[in-house]
Amino acid sequence: MLRPLTAAFAGVNAPDLLVGLQVADDAAVYRLNDAQAIVQTLDFFAPVLDDPYQFGAVAAANAMSDIYAMGGEVLFALNIAAFPETMPEEVVAEIFRGGAEKVREAGGVVAGGHSIYDPEPKYGLAVTGSVHPQRILTKGGARAGDRLYLTKALGTGVLCSSLKDGKLAAADLDAAVASMLQLNRGASLAARAADATALTDVTGFGLLGHADEVACASGVRLRILAEAVPALPGALEAIRAGVRTGGSNRNEAYVAARVDLASDLPRELVELLYDPQTSGGLLATLPADRAGDFEAACREQGVRCWQIGEALSGAGLQVVR
Ligand code: CO
Ligand code: CO
Repeated sequence: MLRPLTAAFAGVNAPDLLVGLQVADDAAVYRLNDAQAIVQTLDFFAPVLDDPYQFGAVAAANAMSDIYAMGGEVLFALNIAAFPETMPEEVVAEIFRGGAEKVREAGGVVAGGHSIYDPEPKYGLAVTGSVHPQRILTKGGARAGDRLYLTKALGTGVLCSSLKDGKLAAADLDAAVASMLQLNRGASLAARAADATALTDVTGFGLLGHADEVACASGVRLRILAEAVPALPGALEAIRAGVRTGGSNRNEAYVAARVDLASDLPRELVELLYDPQTSGGLLATLPADRAGDFEAACREQGVRCWQIGEALSGAGLQVVR
């Protein structure tokens, strides 16, 4: 949908726009000087959780994730919100409080924002961060031989869908919420410490959608070991019980032509790999000899990580059991 915009700006000379529409990535990066660049992103969505405070906090963790996916740090954020006129004031206040406290946890501050009335509630943030112009981590740096890591288990899409249907066990909800609330800051620090070659976050396009972007931008083929990919508790059970999201079908339709699936893959694993994530983890490629450093840095940050595959020469994705 951004193609007309890309075309309109094709001839515009903006040498300080280091990352923009020409090389679509997680966030825009604009250089201020040789040592500082601004990282800018915006994300908002309709409630995925019943608890307004948790929804606000998850929306903030999700919005800030794109700053971390570029290797940056959060400076400040602006709320963007739409609420029905009938929504109780206390509920709106709790959403904002959840967002503000999550931004605080990231070391940033909410500096303002804008709200409108809308029958369908929505909340998110425009986030401003900073990065050194020479230390930007994009989707485009993976090299053949790199190891591929994921820092959160998959399944938030199908689990939030179960929640809407009133079928989610309390313990499974707690685990999914805890995962979505976790900032990607620790994972980003670990990736920077271990000289990650490419970095992105797994959100609405699912693991395979975002892996496809890394493969295309880097000019490599990614081999993913399906059984090494972690699932949140209850996620595979929900898929087996027939719970679906509209997003996973769209993701599959969009990426399938570039995905080579092994014939012995259980269908539920394939569904999980396409499951759209809210506030998902980081997907990182690291030189093979730095993989151990990354794992150690993740432990130090209190972040889990799973080696789920590797980069090969070629193009597209290969998923094996
Ligand atoms: Co992103
Ligand atoms: Co985003």
